[in-house]
Amino acid sequence: MADVVMATPKEQLMAAIAPEVAKIEQIMREDLQEATAGADPLLTEVLNYGIFNGGKRLRPLLLVLAARLCGLSSKNKIKKNKIYKLAIAFEYLHGATLFHDDVIDRGDMRRGKPSVNKEFGVIAAILGGDFLHSRSMSLVGEHGGIDALKIFCQATNAMVDGEFLQLRNAQNYTLSEEDYFAAIKGKTALLIAATCEIGALAMGAINSRQQALAEYGLSLGTAFQIIDDLLDYQGDATQTGKVVGNDFQEGKMTLPLILALSTANGEDRERLLFLLGNESGRKEGFFEAYVLIEKYDGFVLSRRRAESIVAEAVAGLRIFSGEECLPVLSVLNALAQYVLARKK
Ligand code: IPE
Ligand code: IPE
Ligand code: MG
Ligand code: MG
Repeated sequence: MADVVMATPKEQLMAAIAPEVAKIEQIMREDLQEATAGADPLLTEVLNYGIFNGGKRLRPLLLVLAARLCGLSSKNKIKKNKIYKLAIAFEYLHGATLFHDDVIDRGDMRRGKPSVNKEFGVIAAILGGDFLHSRSMSLVGEHGGIDALKIFCQATNAMVDGEFLQLRNAQNYTLSEEDYFAAIKGKTALLIAATCEIGALAMGAINSRQQALAEYGLSLGTAFQIIDDLLDYQGDATQTGKVVGNDFQEGKMTLPLILALSTANGEDRERLLFLLGNESGRKEGFFEAYVLIEKYDGFVLSRRRAESIVAEAVAGLRIFSGEECLPVLSVLNALAQYVLARKK
């Protein structure tokens, strides 16, 4: 008898989403080719470099899955075209924020390669991001209409607010959890909520379904950012494709640090605060800070927080109870578990 090799949950998820991811990439290629016709060759080069390089495509995937949960059928070619165009708009917006983010955070590595600003310079990174942002809005306006554009722009504004809040938070070493959660909601979670919501909206789903998907996205996005912040300390750079320890080096107050500072004894707290405040020595101080955070379970407790938020995300989808919803629901559940287990 032949050996039966059971696929792991991750392999099952990857097999389920691989065709969608391939399609999203193909549509982005076609769209960018059309949109950059006649543009400066450097722009094309920058976009190809910064976009087609192994991103997870989480946001466009969520839009397509939300639309499928709300009845998108593969037979409806016109609707499908519209949904994929909306989906890639979210990847463009995400790409734009990453081009700009690596300028803001002085991030040298992205998706395992030098970041766009490192490779092409700050000007190319800013302009490439501007182009993607503009193209994303044009796609949402064309394929989603004014209601979708409103949600899209609200989420973009929230991202800007979240980034400003984070900037303010960076100088505040007594930051509360509440402030941290407000920042990650703005900078990451609302955009992920918007992608789920617009998938439902574009299918003409009833309001309660749009809202349920928006809530799922909000929780998923919050957990996603907590894990991103954990990976910034604990990840393997060859997998995350980003520099490990960058947040601490930038003096960024993320959840592991906040939780450790809130329970550390006087001496350890003073030491952590010293390491944080010593800007020029932060790179050298990273390992010592890591050990102190670990001593006070900052990493374990952050992960637990993400786990309970993911459980909320999944619970919010229970209004999709029909038999026809089951296949997509199982992918959305698996994605939620993947957000916790991810290494990149
Ligand atoms: C990175 O997003 C930025 C965050 C909001 C945490 P992703 O982890 O989705 O990045 P890619 O697109 O897969 O590279
Ligand atoms: C990425 O945020 C940009 C936004 C969410 C707007 P981070 O700076 O936290 O993410 P990475 O770690 O560089 O991908
Ligand atoms: Mg950032
Ligand atoms: Mg960054």
